[in-house]
Amino acid sequence: MKPNLKNLPTGLRLMQDPTLNKGTAFSEAERDALGLRGLVPPHVQCIDDQVQRFLLTYRKRSTDLERYIDLSSLQDRNETLYYHIITKYIEDMMPLIYTPTVGLACQQFGQIFRRSHGMYISKNDQGNIANVLRNWPRRDIRVIVVTDGERILGLGDLGANGMGIPIGKLALYTACAGLHPTQCLPVAIDVGTNNQTLLDDPLYLGLRQRRTTGEAYDALVEEFITAASEAFPKALIQFEDFANHNAFRFLHKYRNRVCTFNDDIQGTAAVALAGIYSALRITGGKLRDQRLLFFGAGEAGTGVGELMVTALKADGLSESEARKACWFVDSRGLVVKSRTDLNEQKLPFAQDHEPLKDPLAIIEALRPTALIGASGQPGTFTQAIIEAATRSAGRPIIFALSNPTSKAECTAAQAYEWSGGAAIFASGSPFSPVEFNGKRFVPGQGNNAYIFPGVGLGIVAAGSRLVTDEMFLTSARTLAELVTEADLAKGRIYPSLKQIREVSLAIAVAVARVAEDSGLATEKLPTDSQSAIKELMYQPNYVSLV
Ligand code: NAI
Repeated sequence: MKPNLKNLPTGLRLMQDPTLNKGTAFSEAERDALGLRGLVPPHVQCIDDQVQRFLLTYRKRSTDLERYIDLSSLQDRNETLYYHIITKYIEDMMPLIYTPTVGLACQQFGQIFRRSHGMYISKNDQGNIANVLRNWPRRDIRVIVVTDGERILGLGDLGANGMGIPIGKLALYTACAGLHPTQCLPVAIDVGTNNQTLLDDPLYLGLRQRRTTGEAYDALVEEFITAASEAFPKALIQFEDFANHNAFRFLHKYRNRVCTFNDDIQGTAAVALAGIYSALRITGGKLRDQRLLFFGAGEAGTGVGELMVTALKADGLSESEARKACWFVDSRGLVVKSRTDLNEQKLPFAQDHEPLKDPLAIIEALRPTALIGASGQPGTFTQAIIEAATRSAGRPIIFALSNPTSKAECTAAQAYEWSGGAAIFASGSPFSPVEFNGKRFVPGQGNNAYIFPGVGLGIVAAGSRLVTDEMFLTSARTLAELVTEADLAKGRIYPSLKQIREVSLAIAVAVARVAEDSGLATEKLPTDSQSAIKELMYQPNYVSLV
């Protein structure tokens, strides 16, 4: 998408538009034609000089939160330069824009707030949301990421401060998959917060009330979804960091009505399944022979379980055989049929087994081949647990998916050391490589950032009317296929983040194909869909404005 050169603002107004601003990189011709002469220093810089200038200060910062503020301020001033930098240095920048630093940024949102970004729809807008959405200056929105702030990463209820998450996720849509920044809209639905610390904080920026719940809450979300679908009919709506009890309900309520998905449930599932596919290339095992033990039976855990069942069925297993491969532990122990406290998501995974609470006894009884942590509880994978899993599996697959880093079920070093170097490890937040017994292990980051940008690009390219489970299954397979033998030799079960644009493109092509094959596409892609989709991807470089 090229800027509309006919109605360009000029002078200071142009410089204050972050989409068009180039700062010191405006050319001589642009300075003459657009009333910029005298408003910028005389020397014309190229984008590489601007990158160096930014990095000079950025690298001197002593904390990640300060670096986060530098990046957000740059995003507010000059989007092209911001995306140029985060795309070029994605491995370094992803932990800043997203987990773990974004968690800290959300916790301190009221203190670090500089300039508003995205839209806030509050309880007070009820009955008027369609009008509020008209205040957004752009109409061609293709991706909306919306949160109500109730379950931000593993940090709990952060109310309107949760806005940092949609902003970060959409930055990744642009950096990783080339969705144009002007086609992305971050939204925070503010129905209050039950976080007393925030309610007592004079700098908190959200509504000063406890959460609205029940019918009034549902009505607000319904009004938002209806208004957003009318105002932005081509938009994919991604639900993000809603609490468990609402996330599943909304997914089921809206998935056959609007183009929507829940990344915590479906995106996480695809990235975990891709990790299992890659890990099996190391162990030589087959998916159908695995016994997966999940710690955490919430959005992330049961979401992974459901996609695993879909994958096992595609492998020829019956539904009940597939479910027998997936075992769950929640805060009250093993999920078994005799329990009377299981919700709708856990019930299909309840196994015919005696109730067990002690994690070690569970591992010794079940002899799992994989431990998948999505409990939000740090330290869940103790030394005894990892040693027991190693005894039963030989080479256990160990995923500590909980975010941010402080919530991971174990660290990468613990997984490698306690398994004697046998574990195939991945985590939700990044861990540095680990030296153990003279070998260097590169832990994979099982972060859904490998999946959702590509899925979104494929859906947008095909104009898919809905988002299906098959799209996530396809994206998991595509991601796993991109892992090289060299990656596997280092213990890495995901491709390097440096390749994220190619990964997203490959996933987008596969997802667009699924949309076409399932009759959901509204756009006709040419035979060479890869080139066509690549062509759609935003490149963060300056374009001439004259
Ligand atoms: P949730 O609240 O829906 O589920 C948490 C589950 O953990 C519940 O079933 C609870 O009973 C269980 N649990 C609590 N203590 C436990 C214990 N000691 N042992 C076993 N289970 C226990 O939360 P959700 O949305 O599933 O998120 C969980 C974690 O996964 C969070 O830290 C979140 O940040 C992370 N996550 C990671 C993603 C990634 O891309 N790596 C994506 C989505 C979530």
